[in-house]
Amino acid sequence: MSDVPVETAKPPAPQGALGSASVPKLELNNLYISYTDREGKTVQAVEDVNLSLANKPGIGELAVFLGPSGCGKSTILKAICGLMQPDSGQVLIDGVPVTTTGRDRGMVFQTYTSFAWRTVRKNVEYGLELQGIPAKQRKEQALAIIEQVGLKDFADALPKQLSGGMKQRVAIARTLVNKPKLLLMDEPFGALDPQTRWGMQTLILDVLKKQDNTVLFVTHDISEAVFLADTIFVLSHRPARVLERIEVPYFESRDQSVRNSTEFKRLESHVLDLLHKLQVKGNVRVGL
Ligand SMILES: Nc1ncnc2c1ncn2[C@@H]1O[C@H](COP(=O)(O)OP(=O)(O)OP(=O)(O)O)[C@@H](O)[C@H]1O
Ligand SMILES: [Mg+2]
Repeated sequence: MSDVPVETAKPPAPQGALGSASVPKLELNNLYISYTDREGKTVQAVEDVNLSLANKPGIGELAVFLGPSGCGKSTILKAICGLMQPDSGQVLIDGVPVTTTGRDRGMVFQTYTSFAWRTVRKNVEYGLELQGIPAKQRKEQALAIIEQVGLKDFADALPKQLSGGMKQRVAIARTLVNKPKLLLMDEPFGALDPQTRWGMQTLILDVLKKQDNTVLFVTHDISEAVFLADTIFVLSHRPARVLERIEVPYFESRDQSVRNSTEFKRLESHVLDLLHKLQVKGNVRVGL
């Protein structure tokens, strides 16, 4: 669809920032993934997905997957995380094929994942424990990130004492504390109220800038996609295929006020328009 993608000039990258940009951070090549149940019935979840995200040292990159429920977004993220092997095709990170999970990647799952018997702080410390980081440093690092996600007063609480949105923030803190270079976030803010959500969006952008991560983020929220993304991938109905790659102009100061800008609103309506057109063509169902 030639009238929809929006490629707008970005400000020049910092000096030397693209120095090692020749090898993409992430490449998905001809990715096919299916599930087979006990009766041998196969569901094709992902079909010939191809995409590439440039390595952007000193800048970071945030790509968003937008696509209908059940289309295969979580499946793609699991394959990148190394939790699932594709039937065919390849996932390459820094040019190296993914065969298993690794500390270079961190995943925030769609369902909250915390150890029920560990306090919030102990949950957040878990990955640091695995890395053999001494107790004092673990505690400091965990408390810092717990404060950033707004759970300072709940560091000693157990997950059962938390609301859904608070559990979600624990899951985010657990992943962020490990400082993964590739951050996979599967609808991480779904259970949050708008104000908390905006705070978490700002936190992710801060982390991205400071740690120059690459983030792959799933959301159903178009405004969130436009606010966060450098690149939006619009996916088809299952089996997931990439229908459109939209380059989002770089909002230099991406604070919340940018949402009121004409450019932001224009982009939102571009994405909405694209989804409507795809829906009309039968590629995307209502209810994105
Ligand atoms: N463990 C599984 N076993 C069998 N089929 C599965 C399994 N996990 C997912 N699927 C199927 O694969 C397809 C894609 O699922 P996936 O979870 O990747 O979708 P999604 O795009 O993340 O959806 P949502 O937006 O609702 O989270 C769906 O049809 C789903 O039923
Ligand atoms: Mg999902």
